[in-house]
Amino acid sequence: MSRTATLAAGIRAHHRRWHSDPILNDAYAVQLVSPFWRQVAHNRLLNWIVVHKLLGPFHPIHTENILRARYAEDRLAEAIADGVRQYVILGAGLDTYALRHPELAGRVRIFEVDQPGMQALKKERVRRVHGGLPAHVTFVPVDFEIDRLDEALAGAGFDPQTPTFFSWLGTTYYLTRPAIRETLDSIAAAAAPESRLVLDFLLARHLIPLEGLPLADKLERLVKRLGEPMVSEFIPKELDGELARVGFAPLDKVPPEEQAGRYLQDRRDMAAPAPNFSFALYARRGMGGGTETDVRTETAG
Ligand SMILES: C[S@@+](CC[C@H](N)C(=O)[O-])C[C@H]1O[C@@H](n2cnc3c(N)ncnc32)[C@H](O)[C@@H]1O
Repeated sequence: MSRTATLAAGIRAHHRRWHSDPILNDAYAVQLVSPFWRQVAHNRLLNWIVVHKLLGPFHPIHTENILRARYAEDRLAEAIADGVRQYVILGAGLDTYALRHPELAGRVRIFEVDQPGMQALKKERVRRVHGGLPAHVTFVPVDFEIDRLDEALAGAGFDPQTPTFFSWLGTTYYLTRPAIRETLDSIAAAAAPESRLVLDFLLARHLIPLEGLPLADKLERLVKRLGEPMVSEFIPKELDGELARVGFAPLDKVPPEEQAGRYLQDRRDMAAPAPNFSFALYARRGMGGGTETDVRTETAG
């Protein structure tokens, strides 16, 4: 079981419960988290102790968590409007997109990919709260460090001829470089023309402003204690190189300093986004997916 997946869903549950006009309106997160996190989301005193006192220093991470999910779902909505008919959620954790979008059944096939243990737990919880698994979702157990994603997808009925949207959120930093490369190879092998990929990644330490380093270090210590150390970071151009190697070009980049402008505007109820995570949208190059010149925002490095 992934404790960071529970934490991420707990943050989404808290956001929906305690923020009016939520940026991500995830009504199912609270049902999928552990009883402890459900209590935290519902009980005002416990919420104050856990979210505001104990996790107070991490509020910028909470903001990144919410914004990356909203960003991915906005880009996914555009892709579906453009005709994309498959959605692969890599490192899905307790993601609830499929539960929140029953209207996509028969139109968009969703593949949730995660480590076998985490996925078994998720399926058990979805069955309990939903009375069964959504018919438009296929669960594909994969350990990115061991298994070939393209083979697992092929075995699960994925169609490599159909344009696909891939999201890979909250996960790349927990994987080794070889696992990231092999997963990108698999994505390239499985991605038809017009396919897109949204991911977030940990910024290389020298790109984090000095004043952001204490938070970055605190988070590293926390996730290590949870048994999920962060082992991969990127310079944006280096990540572009990894994606270019497998035929993907950047369409959009959202470094930390861009994130608030996109989604927070003058909201005062959310902390500024974390200084150490960036997210980006890539598309298959030379297949109608855009070129380097389409990038809206270029980051340092
Ligand atoms: C922080 S959670 C993010 C979950 C979800 N994407 C979100 O944003 O809430 C990290 C996810 O990556 C998955 N993960 C970590 N290492 C993995 C691996 N080697 N293979 C497959 N999934 C992995 C975990 O099981 C977990 O679900």
